[in-house]
Amino acid sequence: MDIPAITRAIAQAESVVALTGAGVSAESGVPTFRDAQTGLWARYRAEDLATPEAFARQPRVVWDWYAYRRKLVAEAQPNPAHRALAALEDRVPAVTIITQNVDGLHQRAGSSRVVELHGNLSRVRCASCGRVAASWTEPPVPPHCPACNGRLRPDVVWFGELLPRQALAEATTALQVCNVLLVIGTSALVEPAASLPLLALRHGAVVVEINPAPTPLTPFVTASLRGLAGVLLPQVVG
Ligand code: OAD
Repeated sequence: MDIPAITRAIAQAESVVALTGAGVSAESGVPTFRDAQTGLWARYRAEDLATPEAFARQPRVVWDWYAYRRKLVAEAQPNPAHRALAALEDRVPAVTIITQNVDGLHQRAGSSRVVELHGNLSRVRCASCGRVAASWTEPPVPPHCPACNGRLRPDVVWFGELLPRQALAEATTALQVCNVLLVIGTSALVEPAASLPLLALRHGAVVVEINPAPTPLTPFVTASLRGLAGVLLPQVVG
């Protein structure tokens, strides 16, 4: 299926879903998970910091890492890939962005229906009572919850943690009815996000992968476009 045929499928669709990973923000200067960490954080692996155990063992290091990432994201701008997905809303009756990213760039590009499978860096929540604080405070050490004095943590999903139930339910519902699914910039390695595209394939949706490299999903999709999201998505959306 070539790009013009995909553009036609999108134009005729009632419902389009995009499942995005770190690759969609790469051209905004936000490193992907498979990129090596740089600078101060070069000696750490994301997998060693984004865990409840790491936060319990060294809360200050984990808190500082998220403050660093939040600053990085605050300086980043949505790129043509984010903007192309936002523009879809002018053409398709129902558009749902399901993202594994925690950077909020889809919302900043103008997408109005974003399902955040892994949370969002701009929020913190209490590790004890679960209260979510919309604003991010940046004290030198993790602050305590004003409601129960528990320790506040980034409102993101860490390795080994369950995805937010509501987000997973919304994602599943959207994928079961979509006519077209765009899988953009994800290595399709981390479950359960990696298996979500199968829900769309199962009911005969057109599933298009956009990634410079092949992934475990490649053999199953309708079309796999090799290239950068910021270049290909504006072409595909038309
Ligand atoms: P990864 O870093 O695993 O994969 C990024 C993917 O984007 C790779 O397949 C790259 O080939 C591709 N890519 C890089 N630049 C691109 C570009 N300009 N355009 C399109 N694709 C590009 O990131 P994710 O797949 O998002 O989980 O990782 C999934 C999850 O693993 C993350 O949400 C995180 C991580 O562990 C948690 O933190 C719980």
